Amino acid sequence: MTDLEAINTRTARRTYTGQLNKADLRRLEHAVLEANLEGGLNITLLEDGADAFGGVTNSYGMFSGVRSLFVVAGRGKEADLFEKAGHAGERLVLEAVKLGLGTCWVGGTFNRDKIAASLPHGQVLVAVITVGPIKEGRGLLEKAVGRVTSRKRKSAEELMEVDGTPPAWFTAGVEAAACAPSSNGKQPVRFHWKDGVATAAVPDDSPVQRVDLGIAKLHFEIGAGGRFALGNGAAFTPAE
Ligand SMILES: Cc1cc2nc3c(=O)[nH]c(=O)nc-3n(C[C@H](O)[C@H](O)[C@H](O)COP(=O)(O)O)c2cc1C
Repeated sequence: MTDLEAINTRTARRTYTGQLNKADLRRLEHAVLEANLEGGLNITLLEDGADAFGGVTNSYGMFSGVRSLFVVAGRGKEADLFEKAGHAGERLVLEAVKLGLGTCWVGGTFNRDKIAASLPHGQVLVAVITVGPIKEGRGLLEKAVGRVTSRKRKSAEELMEVDGTPPAWFTAGVEAAACAPSSNGKQPVRFHWKDGVATAAVPDDSPVQRVDLGIAKLHFEIGAGGRFALGNGAAFTPAE
């Protein structure tokens, strides 16, 4: 499965059927090492984080069977940490999807204190991402929670503001970004095309929107081919 296929396949999954097998665990641990190379991040893969979700059977009501978690954390409080966390964390999501696993970013509906207390001094907890084996189709609980937590996905047209005619790679990038997860499914990131330059921005620049920005930028980069600079409103450089 390519990155783009993983983008098109992924939806938030909240019901898990068991633990990660050893082979998947090893591959994800390797992916974590690579993701942490994005400056200042300290993502870890917690093999059994069910406690933070009220145990395997409770899982905070919205989730079921949660075991493994990516704990997405890093040093410092500056806005860039949250954007980097979104970008690197979503890379792990896509790696997990390629392994046929389910994932869900979780910023709020878990016991934050429990996870935060386990972090080394000075590390800021950004979010966790549940990861694990899933059934192919979504069950009743998942469908019901999905309806409550996600709105209808916005179209690529709703996410772009263009001045003139953008190149095909810009549209491909926005289409990939339109499939990105976001907090409460709000999709706050907008992609602008003006004077031959593509930029991406969020209106409030809050920590959670910066996470959404990092996630959406990764999707755009995969769809368009190229790399965004760090920051709210930063520009994109297409690959040669
Ligand atoms: C930063 C972030 C935080 C999130 N926090 C939660 C959460 O606390 N609880 C939850 O059930 N889902 C959470 N989600 C998942 C979103 O609700 C979900 O991605 C969104 O509704 C879009 O649905 P989709 O992922 O299926 O495209 C979060 C997503 C992101 C990106």
